[in-house]
Amino acid sequence: MDILFASTNINKVKELNKLLPNHKILIPKDMGLDFDHEEIALTFYENAFGKANALFDIVKMPVLAEDSGLCVPALGGEPGIHSAYYGGNGKIRLSDKEKNLYLLDKMKNVSDRKAYYVCSMVFLINLDRFFICQETLEGEIIYEERGVSGFGYDPLFFIPELGKTAAELSAEEKNEISHRGKAGRAIVSLIERISENRAKA
Ligand code: IMP
Repeated sequence: MDILFASTNINKVKELNKLLPNHKILIPKDMGLDFDHEEIALTFYENAFGKANALFDIVKMPVLAEDSGLCVPALGGEPGIHSAYYGGNGKIRLSDKEKNLYLLDKMKNVSDRKAYYVCSMVFLINLDRFFICQETLEGEIIYEERGVSGFGYDPLFFIPELGKTAAELSAEEKNEISHRGKAGRAIVSLIERISENRAKA
């Protein structure tokens, strides 16, 4: 099935492609659309829904959207919904490396290193019919980067049960346990059930 994913984040698209090998992930650019959505809500799921809704308004076809980020309880939940822009502002967006240095600096006197990723995913068929799944991955923030896979905060995000950072995992290993992997699989099983039912009807 072709799934239109409301994102410009190439790393997320790569992860979804690995996660959903039986489906073709399209992004707005593939349809000639220059889609950008300002995330102004206060929660992940509202942002994900807002993004799905905005793209649905244009394409009038089922849309998948997600909003995700890193939450550090000792920092009051920061960077949270501001993960992509952490340390910058509306105009300036830091690189992943700069954001990680910024986070390390914020946490230099913080001993409680617990953190978790959140992914809120929405599959919107139409405005009266949609599915939302929000998942997490628990871990802790280490003191220096480790690993080169993944993206964003992955080199600092240590998963104690595996003894590795998310950037030391293969894409398959990360998808197995990640916030996006878990939410994605749940949503896809719904999508597949819907397509099966459509085929039967
Ligand atoms: P947005 O959902 O496009 O607003 O961006 C979410 C931001 O959260 C990304 O730019 C990353 O900084 C961070 N993030 C979300 N998921 C992950 C992940 O799996 N690994 C590392 N960073 C992530």
